[in-house]
Amino acid sequence: MATNRTFTMLKPDAVENGHIGAILEKINASGFRIVALKLTQMTIADAQAFYAIHNERPFFNDLVEFMTRGPIVAAILEKENAVEDFRTLIGATNPAEAAEGTIRKLFATSIGENAVHGSDSDENAAIEGAFHFSGREMF
Ligand code: CMP
Repeated sequence: MATNRTFTMLKPDAVENGHIGAILEKINASGFRIVALKLTQMTIADAQAFYAIHNERPFFNDLVEFMTRGPIVAAILEKENAVEDFRTLIGATNPAEAAEGTIRKLFATSIGENAVHGSDSDENAAIEGAFHFSGREMF
């Protein structure tokens, strides 16, 4: 059966709190194959570009400040139905509303600092993956 891809970031809160290993373990256990993976830190300009779709939102400056305050783990993941299945695995944007057992329920602290990002469409997964990785970094 055809597989497809999604893009994720383990956000600065998850990295600061030592959750990289636990989150990657859940991602692996849920059947995703890691296509690309790195520890990196976004500049202010990177985060403003990555989140340009949110630039009119009241939380935009807080989001940019948060996402640039420390390293993130960026990854491209492959699985059948990757975008939808990964969003199910991470849970609702607001961890207070996230289902039991989801990554945000387990590791996120607030709607702003919610541990992990997951692309919302196949098109955005491709754009976001290409934002962080060159072709030589995808396997
Ligand atoms: P994510 O869906 O990964 O990408 C957009 C981010 O904006 C989202 O995660 C949250 O971290 C953040 N965000 C969305 N809504 C709010 C909000 N109401 N207040 C603060 N941050 C938000």
